Amino acid sequence: MADKQAIGVVGVGWVGLVTASCFAELGHPVVAMDIDASKVEALRRGEVPIHEPDLPELVTKNAERLRFTADSDELLAAADLLFCCVDTPPTVSGDADLSRVRAVLETLPSGSDHVLVMKSTVPAGTGAAIRREKPALAYVSCPEFLKEGSAVSDFMNPDRVVIGADPGDEAAADAVEDVYRPLGGEVVRTDVASAEMIKLAANAFLATKISFINEIANVSEEVGADVTEVARGMGLDERIGSSFLRAGIGYGGSCFPKDVSALKQLAGNTGYHFQLLTAVIEVNELQKRRVIKKLEKHLGSLAGKRVALLGLAFKPDTDDMREASSLVLAARLQGEGAEVVAYDPVAEGPAREALNAVDLRPSAAEALDGADAAVLVTEWPEFADLDWAGLAGRMANPLLVDGRNFLDPQALRDAGFVYEGIGRPSED
Ligand code: UGA
Repeated sequence: MADKQAIGVVGVGWVGLVTASCFAELGHPVVAMDIDASKVEALRRGEVPIHEPDLPELVTKNAERLRFTADSDELLAAADLLFCCVDTPPTVSGDADLSRVRAVLETLPSGSDHVLVMKSTVPAGTGAAIRREKPALAYVSCPEFLKEGSAVSDFMNPDRVVIGADPGDEAAADAVEDVYRPLGGEVVRTDVASAEMIKLAANAFLATKISFINEIANVSEEVGADVTEVARGMGLDERIGSSFLRAGIGYGGSCFPKDVSALKQLAGNTGYHFQLLTAVIEVNELQKRRVIKKLEKHLGSLAGKRVALLGLAFKPDTDDMREASSLVLAARLQGEGAEVVAYDPVAEGPAREALNAVDLRPSAAEALDGADAAVLVTEWPEFADLDWAGLAGRMANPLLVDGRNFLDPQALRDAGFVYEGIGRPSED
């Protein structure tokens, strides 16, 4: 154990905290730094600020090897291998905001010969620019592919580990490969620009798959097909694959919307118009709004109607509200004059901050009480086990739009609901 390489992590958001805790679990001494002193204090007390399965347990279990600090000198003294995990949110122009990455660079003294391992998602070309600016630094691009809600298990069981380094930084790349070796997963050794592109291209492709199946869903509605059957039949072709073919009310989160727009913008900055991604983004925006028409089909005008949203987080098993489809949907419903009530099993706090004038209720049943319609926005597992027949009786009008095709249409109809899915045969 004693000879395990010390690891430094900069930024303890989702990626940083998972990276730090998982490396500690693998036996490395880890120092994790964040400029937010209150977050550092909370973590020292063992309080994990995000909802992520298995993460609090890992932080507690590895407390001896996992040190949190707000002091960059402490970080730099403790570790040579520094994983940069700060966020790169979109700017108004759609480019990635690199100000936090720049702030990390500023903490490195000139002449620092640390290894900077970039896990933050940055535009292709960023690594080359940093390398020019800080010639003594070794630079490795090692993009992260974890998904919120299963981040710990994704980290521990990677499909692949991408390690990008340019000539002169091979030893640094070897050191990164060493710390990932116990996890298995195919190692892709490549140059920095290609590693940067792999990350953006992977997220953009997954988002493209979702927008594609959402368009197939919309056409399926017109021709009487069921998109869940279409996706099943398509996905069994191993060239296509079955994952990320779930039609719904659009993708959200802190990654897909940002990265698709960043890649489109990156291409645009070089003079190339990435037409496909323009469509992917537009389809996603329209998809969130299609629910309105489905409700109007049964209710007529939504003015004065009460609509209950079930689930608010951008996906289950997280309390993350960033770019959640619920945000657009709630605002559109309010724009039509509807009263919006909602329930989410864990995202109530973040939802309260993100949503305007939405009445948050403590349970699904209380959200549905007296409602004219319900929209299932996030497929939380507990929604599968609700007593739907009992709930139908509590609503003013038992209409359910299943925005994730999560429930069994026949079971809901048997329970007394008018059921509308996405891309599934509907009732007139
Ligand atoms: C995504 C990628 O899946 C990760 O590989 C990547 O590391 C991460 O972004 C990142 O760049 O950090 P994440 O945003 O956590 O992960 O969540 P996903 O599970 O990919 O879901 C994104 C959105 O797509 C959710 O709103 C989800 O509801 C939606 N989705 C997903 C669909 O609408 N249909 C699907 O078939 C799959």
